[in-house]
Amino acid sequence: MNENIDKAFKVALEARSNAHAPYSKFQVGAAIKVVGDDTIYPGCNVENASYGATVCAERNAIIGAVARNGKIEIEYVVVACNTDPVTVPCALCLQVISEFAKPEMPVYLGDLESVKKTVLFKDLLPMPFNTLDC
Ligand code: THU
Repeated sequence: MNENIDKAFKVALEARSNAHAPYSKFQVGAAIKVVGDDTIYPGCNVENASYGATVCAERNAIIGAVARNGKIEIEYVVVACNTDPVTVPCALCLQVISEFAKPEMPVYLGDLESVKKTVLFKDLLPMPFNTLDC
């Protein structure tokens, strides 16, 4: 795995340790790299007593990057979670990712040790909902 991805994986892992997951106890860390920006944006899941107000790690990272940059293109996403097989972004997060990513964008999926699997975004969500091209 290239060293930039390893660094982003570490950011995701560190973010995971900040997860606020008292309800599910399922801690997720994410990191995104944005085209033209060297910053790696961290995200963790932040749960809420109302459950429905919970924000996933992936969306948390994206929201931070948009707040900092405005318009973004995501270069890659990293997810870190202590599961085997690795955890993939949920459908809601995939839909949000689709707003900011090309079909060929890589998604790196890891456990607590390292990235274990690489998938292309288009293989996770082949047909995103989209109104702009209608
Ligand atoms: N979760 C994420 O953070 N990312 C995903 O892609 C899947 C689910 C979180 C939401 C909730 O806090 C916990 O995992 C259990 O669903």
